[in-house]
Amino acid sequence: MFHVEPVDEQWDVVGAVARVFGERTPVAEAYHASLASDGVARGLIGPREVPRLWTRHVLNCAVLGELVGVGETVVDVGSGAGLPGVPLAIARPDVRVTLVEPLLRRSVYLQEFVESVGLTNVTVVRGRAEQAGVVKEVGGADVVTSRAVAPLEKLARWSLPLVRVGGRMLALKGSSAAEEIARDRAALTRLGAGRLEVVECGAAVLPVPTAVVSAERVAHHRHRGQRR
Ligand SMILES: C[S@@+](CC[C@H](N)C(=O)[O-])C[C@H]1O[C@@H](n2cnc3c(N)ncnc32)[C@H](O)[C@@H]1O
Repeated sequence: MFHVEPVDEQWDVVGAVARVFGERTPVAEAYHASLASDGVARGLIGPREVPRLWTRHVLNCAVLGELVGVGETVVDVGSGAGLPGVPLAIARPDVRVTLVEPLLRRSVYLQEFVESVGLTNVTVVRGRAEQAGVVKEVGGADVVTSRAVAPLEKLARWSLPLVRVGGRMLALKGSSAAEEIARDRAALTRLGAGRLEVVECGAAVLPVPTAVVSAERVAHHRHRGQRR
């Protein structure tokens, strides 16, 4: 059942959900319901977020699919309760998503949810993005996503080694996006990132579009801790 959010009376949440998730709308509804119940009970989502789960979380993350090509592989770093990786995987059955999350409680929740709805295009890996074993297991992805995990430079240190040359790092950054790029551009360039820009997605379905920092891995680069 839909929990309609009082964001903007003109905004059609039911229409937006149907447009973004299509025939997978029941799975998106199950995720929304799970975050509002289990997610809150297990301390993964603040109770104050419940009235705005569709806008600020589930839809806001799913629209990232606009920046992901058909059949691409995605690694979501620091998924927490599954954001943005789970909504992306629900909206895009053609995309394989690996959720990387170090905390046991969170990775258990993710595994349980994924199994409960039969989300076969999602794999959960417990670990830190920069761990050698994780880099080996999930590296070479087309896209690495993240939201609310670390400042841009640190995020790039963790994300770029997981992406193939020519692949992209997509970081949901909200209002700090342009500022973080201005601050960290030189450091990201040194780390082998290029085409650094803020991209907006979801403008056609969301009252406020999602701001994403996009960077391409343009060069092989020996990241700290990585073996030659
Ligand atoms: C503030 S939460 C954000 C969770 C989710 N991305 C969201 O937007 O709701 C940050 C998450 O990053 C995870 N994290 C922190 N350091 C990490 C690392 N080095 N590698 C992978 N995940 C990490 C934490 O365990 C936590 O779940």
